[in-house]
Amino acid sequence: MAETMIAVIGGSGIYEIDGLENAEWVTVDTPWGAPSDQILTGRLDGVAMAFLPRHGRGHVHSPTDVPYRANIDALKRLGVTDVISVSACGSFREEMAPGTFVIVDQFIDRTVAREKSFFGSGCVGHVSLAHPTCPRLSDACETAARSAGITVHRGGTYLAMEGPQFSTLAESRMYREHWGADVIGMTNMPEAKLAREAELCYASVAMVTDYDSWHPDHGEVDIADIIATLSGNADKGRAMVRGLPALLGTERTPCPHGCDRSLDHAILTAPD
Ligand code: ADE
Repeated sequence: MAETMIAVIGGSGIYEIDGLENAEWVTVDTPWGAPSDQILTGRLDGVAMAFLPRHGRGHVHSPTDVPYRANIDALKRLGVTDVISVSACGSFREEMAPGTFVIVDQFIDRTVAREKSFFGSGCVGHVSLAHPTCPRLSDACETAARSAGITVHRGGTYLAMEGPQFSTLAESRMYREHWGADVIGMTNMPEAKLAREAELCYASVAMVTDYDSWHPDHGEVDIADIIATLSGNADKGRAMVRGLPALLGTERTPCPHGCDRSLDHAILTAPD
């Protein structure tokens, strides 16, 4: 029987998994260098779990410097089947208020200074990214979050910006009014692209901390406001994670959406 292993990549504010049994920090080496940190492994309700602090313990990696390829590769090497990204974001929608969660299903990638693929010269591959998140895994996140009493918005477009500065007012208005983005953050790309190349199911839970800078009643975003909202969001995020193993179970069945077979027709380079 194939076994489920759930990984949580925790962003700002989430640095652990509550109730993890046989918890152990393990070091994983990859051909892409070291991941952001050691990876916390253990079991929750009998299900294998892994937790990776995206910015490293102590928040040492900026969004640009997160070793995205090493992170995804390290999770794959551990046997992870499902990756849940938990991250802070700004909101472009009145109803996606600070303190609510958005289960993202689309991305606009505006990052410019990151390695975005495991492929390159020598091995050329093109995976489909039309639907970059896994609906089955997103369903589980939605159910777990609602059960924990969290206000959840299902579906939304995440604008991934390079940072580390926040957006200008003109950019914020453009993303919201003309590009149709719902939330903005600095980390989900290229993570989602790499998870697809690694044939991992990927879901993104974006925890709203602010209204970016477009909102006439909220002024500009600053880090003090974000941190104030983050601690409440992090408690909710951990409550959501606590509910996931019971929903996903230990037995791993093939992904109905094909995330685990994304390379079947993607590689162009002829085998040796
Ligand atoms: N993370 C949290 N809030 C953000 C914002 N407004 N822009 C980019 N990343 C964020």
